[in-house]
Amino acid sequence: MSEQLQFPDNFLWGSSISSHQTEGDNVNDWSEWEKSEQRLEDLRKSGRLQRHGLDNFISKNAADHFRLYKEDYQLAKELGHNALRISLEWSRIEPEEGIFSEAALGQYQKMIRHLRELGIEPLVTLWHWTIPLWLRDQGGWANPETPRYFKRYVEKTASFLKDEVDFWITLNEPELYAGMSYFLGIWPPQKKNPYLYLRVIGNLIKAHKLAFEQLHIIKDNFKVGIATNNVYFEPYQGLFHNRAIVKLAHWWNNNYFLNRIKDKQDFIGLNYYFHNLLHWGKTKNQNKTTSDLAWELHPEGIYHVLQDLKKYQRPIYVTENGLADATDKKRAWFIANILKHVHQAIADGVDVKGYLHWSLLDNFEWDKGFEPRFGLVEVNYKTQQRKPRPAAHFYSEIIKKNHLSKEDLEKHASPPED
Ligand code: BGC
Repeated sequence: MSEQLQFPDNFLWGSSISSHQTEGDNVNDWSEWEKSEQRLEDLRKSGRLQRHGLDNFISKNAADHFRLYKEDYQLAKELGHNALRISLEWSRIEPEEGIFSEAALGQYQKMIRHLRELGIEPLVTLWHWTIPLWLRDQGGWANPETPRYFKRYVEKTASFLKDEVDFWITLNEPELYAGMSYFLGIWPPQKKNPYLYLRVIGNLIKAHKLAFEQLHIIKDNFKVGIATNNVYFEPYQGLFHNRAIVKLAHWWNNNYFLNRIKDKQDFIGLNYYFHNLLHWGKTKNQNKTTSDLAWELHPEGIYHVLQDLKKYQRPIYVTENGLADATDKKRAWFIANILKHVHQAIADGVDVKGYLHWSLLDNFEWDKGFEPRFGLVEVNYKTQQRKPRPAAHFYSEIIKKNHLSKEDLEKHASPPED
């Protein structure tokens, strides 16, 4: 068994959350979609409404984080985190077109200052999928004007918060969002239109570039990137046609967006969740270790995905990685093994500078609602009480030592049984 795995000095250790999933009381395209007739009809038809109940699917006060942020940041502090990725809610900051809320900006400023006082580095995402209603009514990301609207929002917001924030993530997983919302038609606005899908991707690329430039005008030494959801694709049995499909899927899903913005990123944020063993374009995963969402858990995939990002010659932060695991049976194993592979990537020359686990808290998991439990900290949604899960303490020990010990690795050598 290998010796202890030491992480670099000044490594950022922490977790991630997002506004709509935790804050509560947001009014945006998602909050309205959750309550729409079409959505309720879909839930009814699929039997999910009957199985999980309506409350599961309405974000409402979520994890009440807007009110309880001090408590949550304190927990992050006690768990040894030195970084937290949060997102700002566009719909709070610009509730009406061109009208910016000083109150909302002021509140975010207070929150971020508080993080800093606790010695926690904020990584701030400007857009994590939700948009204000006025923008929804103008066609959202399919509208050619939206990149310009985004730039205006970024300019206002970053000018206000320029002394509090150094790391900006313009867009969260733009490729995934475009696919889910405009190609597969699962997320609002539920379009299944390849033409709109490509247009949205184009607009998101434009928006990032404009925001990147704008942010550097405000402060030259801001660090700006996106968070990309990259998948480790493998060809089933190495067959020729599978290799060809893997190449295409890899290029489109993992590299296309990054290639288009390659001169306009100071770092890369990697969100790693998926491994896909492809056979004739379909997933044929063999690994039986899965999360509560039946997503295959494949820690070694992060090594390959990180290796691939090396070509962009930018520092990399793992801005999300985690699993839905309500009983917390697999989380410590998963964290230990992910970190083992992150460490291997660093040892092999990939410039990984931080790891942020998804998520600090249980939260509203988009179309799946509250049921999936991604939190290091458990949330009781009835009382809004927080309780760190055992794996949060395990992760905390690694952070404190800044290494994975031989014992950590031995203990988590094989995946826990279901
Ligand atoms: C998203 C998060 C989400 C997580 C788990 C990521 O793709 O950025 O908002 O909760 O995956 O599904």
